[in-house]
Amino acid sequence: MNRVSIWVLSLCCLVGIGLSRSEDGVEELKAKESLLSYLEKDAASPGANSLMVPLTLIQGAVSKGAVCLDGTPPGYHLDRGFGSGSNSWLIQLEGGGWCDNIRTCVFRKTTRRGSSKFMEKQINFTGILSNKAEENPDFYNWNRVKLRYCDGASFAGEGQNEANRLYFRGQRIWSAAMEELMARGMQNAEQALLSGCSAGGLASILHCDEFKDLFPKTTKVKCLSDAGMFLDATNVAGGHTLRDMYGSVVTLQGVQKNLPNTCTSQMDPTSCFFPQNLVANIRTPMFLLNAAYDAWQVHESLIPSSADPHGSWRECKMDHSHCNSTQMQFLQDFRNQMLNAINVFSKSNQNGLFINSCFAHCQSEKQDTWYENDSPRIGNKAVAVSVGDWFFDRTAVKAIDCAYPCDSTCHDLVFNDVTSTITISQSTRLTFTLLNLLSALLITLTCSKCTMEFQFGQ
Ligand SMILES: *[C@@H]1O[C@H](CO)[C@@H](O)[C@H](O)[C@H]1NC(C)=O
Ligand SMILES: *[C@@H]1O[C@H](CO)[C@@H](O)[C@H](O)[C@H]1NC(C)=O
Repeated sequence: MNRVSIWVLSLCCLVGIGLSRSEDGVEELKAKESLLSYLEKDAASPGANSLMVPLTLIQGAVSKGAVCLDGTPPGYHLDRGFGSGSNSWLIQLEGGGWCDNIRTCVFRKTTRRGSSKFMEKQINFTGILSNKAEENPDFYNWNRVKLRYCDGASFAGEGQNEANRLYFRGQRIWSAAMEELMARGMQNAEQALLSGCSAGGLASILHCDEFKDLFPKTTKVKCLSDAGMFLDATNVAGGHTLRDMYGSVVTLQGVQKNLPNTCTSQMDPTSCFFPQNLVANIRTPMFLLNAAYDAWQVHESLIPSSADPHGSWRECKMDHSHCNSTQMQFLQDFRNQMLNAINVFSKSNQNGLFINSCFAHCQSEKQDTWYENDSPRIGNKAVAVSVGDWFFDRTAVKAIDCAYPCDSTCHDLVFNDVTSTITISQSTRLTFTLLNLLSALLITLTCSKCTMEFQFGQ
């Protein structure tokens, strides 16, 4: 079926170029970028007749100062609803990590995550964005929007850095985009769902109540956060990688003033960028979809290379089946933290949950994890059905898997550096050979000029 092939053009490691890590670490940034692309969505297998939706730039946003990191206008992709879905709106906030210092933000200006100059002119709508009932049973005929992410602070920053010509305007992008979509018909919505994956999943948590407040009380409004439960966790060396990063993002990008008051009146702003300190206080019905062993967090927050200088966790990080019992216990502890973090949230009748015991990241936009014959399930219910049941109040959905390894329906991400292949176990569909991919992605980089390009196809 949807076999995914990835061709990696790796113009890498040119002979004669020094083998030491370059000063500015551009390759490292590119590697992180590639990892995000891989984890978040780009590996999505487009259907046989995939739906390509064009990019619309919000030109009018520039005069409001609602611009990407480099000053270019933000953008979105809209596919119009039809039939019974004509007055229903789904907004999907794109993810893509964060930039937490001048260097990483300046780098972003050269990518689609910091400039609309580099955004794809059209993208495939799959999973929750698909327009086919057999791929997306409940939302296929809605107006479906993908809002592009180009601010680097989960649509929540406000500020700028003159010296480096950096604009931190995430909050303004959010507002300008909502204004534009209201004008394009969203103001007549009878029902609306704000969604998002990864950094976009965090954004959907941050903006959920604001989104609800755009509409009259009679409009049914809910929010979905996919892979947005980033935990304030301790890494394998006892450090706090993600907290350090969030602290820098919040400070650099002026996020504090846009964080929910209910939190900032009680805690420091960095803590208030962590969903665990926010989700219990969201007024609007919310659904948390997350892998208990979120693949991005395992790689970048729990076992970042900096916390594993001798590589003793590397095998385990690449492939969880290689973790020994001590290491697995560490990952089980992480799952327990996840369950603790959603405990109060889960008590509210209006909220929904799907926490599967998988090593995955972003499961709503990829067709193979959203809705297919062998897509991940809890209690024999696929992600798409669980989210639909909750949105339409068909049944309550509070699905929490038993701990690893009890779930045999996962589409786990496995990184295998020995054979330079990446496979997604269970689904058996992703088996692609990548030149230098892992060295570029995850291992110490040894080349100075790398250009990697991914293409995904049938
Ligand atoms: C698991 O591996 C780690 C890292 O190599 C090691 O420190 C630990 O002792 C191992 N635990 C067991 C039970 O083998
Ligand atoms: C979208 O799908 C088409 C057709 O399957 C494919 O050729 C193209 O590479 C895909 N684009 C992206 C960005 O995934």
